[in-house]
Amino acid sequence: MIDLNKILTTGASGMVGSYVDFGIKTDSESLDVTNLDEVMRVVRQYRPQAIIHLAAETDVDLCDRDPNHAYSVNGIGVYNIATAALDVGAKLVYVSTAGVFDGEKDCPYTEEDVPSPKNFYGRSKHLGELIVRGMLKDYIIARACWMFGGGMEKDKKFVSKIIKQLNKPEIKAVNDAFGSPTFGKDLVGTLKQLLTDDATGIFHLGNEGVCSRYEVAKFIIETLKPDVEITAVGLDYFPGANRVKNEAVVSEVKLMRPWQEALKEYLETEWKHTIKN
Ligand SMILES: NC(=O)c1ccc[n+]([C@@H]2O[C@H](COP(=O)([O-])OP(=O)(O)OC[C@H]3O[C@@H](n4cnc5c(N)ncnc54)[C@H](OP(=O)(O)O)[C@@H]3O)[C@@H](O)[C@H]2O)c1
Repeated sequence: MIDLNKILTTGASGMVGSYVDFGIKTDSESLDVTNLDEVMRVVRQYRPQAIIHLAAETDVDLCDRDPNHAYSVNGIGVYNIATAALDVGAKLVYVSTAGVFDGEKDCPYTEEDVPSPKNFYGRSKHLGELIVRGMLKDYIIARACWMFGGGMEKDKKFVSKIIKQLNKPEIKAVNDAFGSPTFGKDLVGTLKQLLTDDATGIFHLGNEGVCSRYEVAKFIIETLKPDVEITAVGLDYFPGANRVKNEAVVSEVKLMRPWQEALKEYLETEWKHTIKN
C-alpha cells in the first residue's frame, strides 16, 4: 500500500504541481532534474516509494527554438530521475503529452496508438517515454492534453490566455484543431488513485470528450463574460511552433470526468472573482 507521504514530486511549483497536496514537493531550485548528482542526492535522502515527475520544459515554441534545451530537460532529466527511481526502488509516474502523436488521425488517440511527434516538445517528451519504458518495469506514463489549472498565478496556457482577453470586444479562436482539455486538479487526483491501486502502464488522462479551441473559448466566454464576441479562425491564423491538428485522447478505462464539468469548476472556483462584468 502506497504511503502518500512517501511520494516525491518534481517540478511541483508549476501548474499541475499546484494541486499536489501530499508528500515531498521539489522545484527547480531544490531539485534540478538535469543535474544527476543533485537528483541522486535528493532521491536517496527521501527514499520515496514513488516519484511523480512533472518537471519539464513545457514551452512548445521555446522547445522548437532550442531543441538541445528541450532534450536536456525532457530527455536527460527523465533519464536522471529514472536512474534514481531504479536506485531506491521507487515507482515512476511520468506525465507525458498527447503531443507525442502527429495529429493526422481523424479520431481520438488511444493508448495503443504509436507516437510520431511533429515538433521538438513532442519529440523530447516522447524520448522521455522511451527512457521510462526502456529502463523501468514499475511505471505509469500518463498522457494529458491541453492542460488548464493553477489560476491567475500559474496558468499560462490557452484557458488563461482567453480569460486575459475578456476585456476586448472580440476574441479569435481556432476551430480546426482538436483536443481533450485536462484539468490539472483532476489529473493529480487520478494519479493518486492509480498509485493507490498500484496500476502500471500507459494511461490517457485527458478529461472526457473532444472539442476545438473555439469551443473551449466559447465555454469560457459564456461562463464568465457572455457579451464578448467570438470569431472562429483556422490553425494557420496564429504563427508559432508546428502545432498539431488532433491531440484528442481517449482511454480504455473511464478515469476522468467530462471536460465541461471540470472547466466549469475551474472557472468558478479560481477565476470568477477576478472578472469585472
Ligand atoms: N501544460 C500542458 O498543456 C501540458 C499538457 C500535457 C502534458 N503536460 C506535462 O505535464 C507536466 C506538468 O506540466 P505543467 O503544465 O505543470 O507545466 P509548468 O507549469 O510549466 O511546470 C513545469 C515545472 O517544471 C519545472 N522545471 C523546468 N525545468 C526544470 C529542471 N531542469 N529541473 C526541475 N524542474 C524544472 C519548472 O520550474 P521553473 O518554472 O522554476 O523552471 C516548472 O515549475 C509536464 O511534464 C508537461 O510536459 C503539460
